[in-house]
Amino acid sequence: MKVLVTGGAGYIGGHMVLALRDAGHDSVVLDNLSTGFRWSVPEDVPLVVGDVGDYELVLQTLRAHSIDAIVHFAAKLIVPESLRDPLGYHLNNTVKSRSLLAAAVAAGVETFVFSSTAAVYGNASDRPIAEDAPLAPLSPYGSSKQLTEVMLREVAAAHGMRFVVLRYFNVAGADPAMRHGQCTANATHLIKVAVQTALGMRPSMEVFGTDYPTPDGTCIRDYIHVSDLISAHMRALDHLGAGGESLVANCGYGHGYSVSEVIDTVRKVSGRPLEARIALRRDGDPVTIVADSTRLRSSLDWQPRYDDLATIVEHTLRWETMLRERNLKL
Ligand code: UFG
Repeated sequence: MKVLVTGGAGYIGGHMVLALRDAGHDSVVLDNLSTGFRWSVPEDVPLVVGDVGDYELVLQTLRAHSIDAIVHFAAKLIVPESLRDPLGYHLNNTVKSRSLLAAAVAAGVETFVFSSTAAVYGNASDRPIAEDAPLAPLSPYGSSKQLTEVMLREVAAAHGMRFVVLRYFNVAGADPAMRHGQCTANATHLIKVAVQTALGMRPSMEVFGTDYPTPDGTCIRDYIHVSDLISAHMRALDHLGAGGESLVANCGYGHGYSVSEVIDTVRKVSGRPLEARIALRRDGDPVTIVADSTRLRSSLDWQPRYDDLATIVEHTLRWETMLRERNLKL
């Protein structure tokens, strides 16, 4: 199978490129390098530097490389940023996905895996959240992904495409062999921020809200190791390759940790002090998001390998330490 990986120079897409390569599949990366890194794309994987919204470039790439499947990661993904810039998020995540889908239809690509998000659920009352829960995103980030899901479903029905939509919960960690990890400048995600603080790369960090209706007052999330998330993508490609039907599946473990529990785990695993100051709630934060991952396990036969917060933190620590030692710019 020959796969186009959009956003393949980024954190999650980069892990996908490695997994495809490990499994003996050919891939082509399309990335505008706005947040991705050229160095992260293996030399034997073609890198097309450009935008998913560039219809002509995408169509030409799909045809020139005889692409069979698209895995679409390229997106903006920071919830607070999306509240400040909704139009930017709708342009980047929704409008450009429309252009990508149009090129896929024109080139006859019939297999599509889409990176969606738990942010489509908003403050869901079901705990854990199943895929048929009502969608009520609290941020333009979530709604930009929801709109793309709708578009993909309608395009697939009209043009004989089959898809898997994967709704990611909180992705963290790094490749256990340390070939890849998160390098995004000014990352805002909790585990990365906490690990960097423990390593002294940030003076302190903030806990956004301690007055939520949870046991310790901080928000609860379902943190999934990036390698387990990628194995879900590989299972999705296998499923579609074997003629499986389109489906939407949550990607999480089915249990969550609070912000305070994550910070304590980082203190324990790193053996270092970590100053966490209490701050006001952050806009757009749901209280609790935990996946019902039954469908991922049953329909895609997904079996996670790293369902352990201490392991996720340890891999993040090793990655951040390596980056610091290599003096890579963060
Ligand atoms: N948090 C802090 N301090 C920080 C960073 C985060 O207290 O410095 C808190 C947040 O307020 C939130 C929790 O940690 O309660 C997790 O926040 P993240 O920024 O790590 O992640 P989000 O839950 O906001 O969003 C992530 C992804 C989205 C995805 C969502 C689904 O960025 O793409 O998870 O749960 F949709």
